Amino acid sequence: MLWWIVGIGLLIVIAAAFYLQRLWLRPWQELEHLLTRIGRGEQPRTFLLVGPAPARRVGLALEQLLVRQRELDRQVSQDTAEVRAVFSALTDGLLMVDSTQRILICNPAFEKLYDKSPITAGTPLLDIIRDSDVIEPIREALDQAKARVAEVTAPDRKKQLQITAVPITDQNGKASGVVALFHDISRLKQTDEIRRDFVANVSHELRTPLSIFHGNLETLLEAGDLDENETRHIYEVMKRHSDRLKLLVNDLLSLAHLESKAANLQLDEIKLREFLEAVTRDWAKRLAGKNLWLELEVPDDFPTLRADERRLEEVVHNLLDNAVKYSHQNGRILIQAGAPDQDVVLSVCDEGIGIAATDLPRIFERFYRADRARSRELGGTGLGLSIVKHIAQLHGGRVEAESAVGQGTTIRVILPNPAAN
Ligand SMILES: Nc1ncnc2c1ncn2[C@@H]1O[C@H](COP(=O)(O)OP(=O)(O)OP(=O)(O)O)[C@@H](O)[C@H]1O
Ligand SMILES: [Mg+2]
Repeated sequence: MLWWIVGIGLLIVIAAAFYLQRLWLRPWQELEHLLTRIGRGEQPRTFLLVGPAPARRVGLALEQLLVRQRELDRQVSQDTAEVRAVFSALTDGLLMVDSTQRILICNPAFEKLYDKSPITAGTPLLDIIRDSDVIEPIREALDQAKARVAEVTAPDRKKQLQITAVPITDQNGKASGVVALFHDISRLKQTDEIRRDFVANVSHELRTPLSIFHGNLETLLEAGDLDENETRHIYEVMKRHSDRLKLLVNDLLSLAHLESKAANLQLDEIKLREFLEAVTRDWAKRLAGKNLWLELEVPDDFPTLRADERRLEEVVHNLLDNAVKYSHQNGRILIQAGAPDQDVVLSVCDEGIGIAATDLPRIFERFYRADRARSRELGGTGLGLSIVKHIAQLHGGRVEAESAVGQGTTIRVILPNPAAN
């Protein structure tokens, strides 16, 4: 009997233990197991916990939490990929550093600028950039939590960069990092230099005639007893310089117009041979002055050229003017026209002083004169070839120069000829 009671008691205890284990311990064990797997980044097959309803609800809530977290993860990595794509598309170098000046992120343009690739997150900025001119604005933006702009030379020593360092501030206004943009301003600098040179050149060209006018006017006003010859001489000098001024202003206006957006062409069909014969007829006197021999070589069956006649005249006048100015006495000047391929090539060739190889690439620049003293003496301002180049470009063409010092020069104007297409 006693054994029976003990047996039943034991059974009850075992059943109670089994029930308790199922009710209280097993859900905890399963929950622990689930959390461990999630922690390892695994995806559990089921979230169904064995146990009472509250335990099953915890399992379901956990599943929802995990789904939500995965969705957030996906969104974050998509956002990061988008930010990286924007960074990569930037042609300017971009860099983000933390408060200890370690690199958080940088784009390929920055890596290229500093010739280091790949730059991993966490790299100290000083390992990449040693130039204090670059480090300084970034450091100041961090220390003072204020944006800084600086102009520096790129590591390749060729480009000019503008660095804009902007702090990333926290709620207390302290900088927790800096975003720095490295913008290439070489072209801007170059344009600025060209503009400054241009102003300096124009002022320089204006100074001589103006001071001559001033001096001569003073003489006329103050010296009352000038004889007729002296007065005439003064007027002649003033006339010569006013002619020069007029030429300069005309050339400047012509260039300004050619460079402006308003520049347009009045295209006509031009019979090149007749055109060149007519233009060169006006040059007889000047050619005779130096006893120069001018030859025209244009094939009889030369196709008509579609171009702006007035501007083409300007081209020929400028090229002939140079050929005459820089030719020796008794020299020969040859004007040739040819149509190899689909372009028309118009060249003016002389046997004059020639141009040094160092000057040759620059003769089409505004105000560039290979031999300043001689050109000025001959009344040149260095704008003629620049006008020729612009006119050629306006026609969709280009210019070329070939020269040997002491032997002569050939300037070629190459124009596309739609008529031949
Ligand atoms: N045929 C040439 N022979 C030798 N040098 C030349 C010749 N053509 C041009 N040059 C050189 O190139 C420079 C630029 O020529 P460009 O025609 O632009 O200026 P310029 O003749 O001095 O002045 P401008 O044409 O404005 O009166 C000249 O100053 C000269 O040094
Ligand atoms: Mg000239």
